Amino acid sequence: MKKIIVLNLKMNLNYEEALSYVSDIKNKISDVFNTIFCPSFIYLDLFKASNYKLGAQNVYYPEKGAFTGEVSASQLKSMGIHYAIVGHSERRKYFNEDNKLVGNKIAFCLKEGLSPILCIGETIEEKQLKKTASVLKNQIFYALKDADKDLINDIIIAYEPVWAIGSGKTPSILEIEDAIEYIKNNIKTIYDVNAKVLYGGSVNKENIKDIIKIKNLDGVLIGSSSIDAKYLIEMLDLID
Ligand code: PGA
Repeated sequence: MKKIIVLNLKMNLNYEEALSYVSDIKNKISDVFNTIFCPSFIYLDLFKASNYKLGAQNVYYPEKGAFTGEVSASQLKSMGIHYAIVGHSERRKYFNEDNKLVGNKIAFCLKEGLSPILCIGETIEEKQLKKTASVLKNQIFYALKDADKDLINDIIIAYEPVWAIGSGKTPSILEIEDAIEYIKNNIKTIYDVNAKVLYGGSVNKENIKDIIKIKNLDGVLIGSSSIDAKYLIEMLDLID
C-alpha cells in the first residue's frame, strides 16, 4: 500500500503565496505516495490545480443550517474534497473541541462519504503519568462511538502526541511503534477493521527517514515542514 502523506498547512499562506505554492508543488511529489494537501478552506479550490488529493483542516457536522462560519461535510464533498482532519489537538485546545464533538464530526463525515483523518495523542503530563494507552483508548472510543460500524474502514488515524506538535521533539521510534500497534490492535479487536495509522508531530528532514520505516506505520502527517514548498519537496525526495 502507498504511504499516506498528509500535509497540514494550518493557517498559513496568503493568496499570492498559495498561488506560487501550488505551482511549486505541481508534479514534484512522487506518486509512490498517497499525498493529501490540507490548506485553509479558502484555498481548497485553488489547490485542485496541484492534482493531489485534498482535505479540509476542520469540518462541522450537521448537513447544513445556521452555524455561522462553519463548513459541513456535505459541502466539502460537493466540492470534490475527500478528506477532513478531525480532532486536531489545536482544535481541542484553542476551540474547546471535546471527544463528543469529535465523535459527531466523525459520524457525519463517514455518512457523507468523506474520510476523516482523526487525530489522537497524549499531552506531556499524560505521558509522564504513563497514561498514553488509556488516553488513546478513550479518544478512539468516543471518536468512533456513533459512527456507522460498516464505514469505520474509511477512517485514517493520526497518532500525534500533543507535546510533539510544532515543538521539534518526537517520541522515540520504539514509542511510536508501540502506539501504532496499540491503536491498530484496539480497532481490530473492537471493530475488526485494519486501521490505517499515521504519525504526526515535528516530522522534518532530519527524522523522516527513520520515522517512515517504523513497523506497521501507514504514513505521516506533516505540519510546519510543509509550509515551505521547496523544503517539503526535498524532504519527501529523501524517502522516495
Ligand atoms: P508539526 O504539526 O509537523 O508542525 O509538528 C503536526 C500537526 O499538524 O499535527
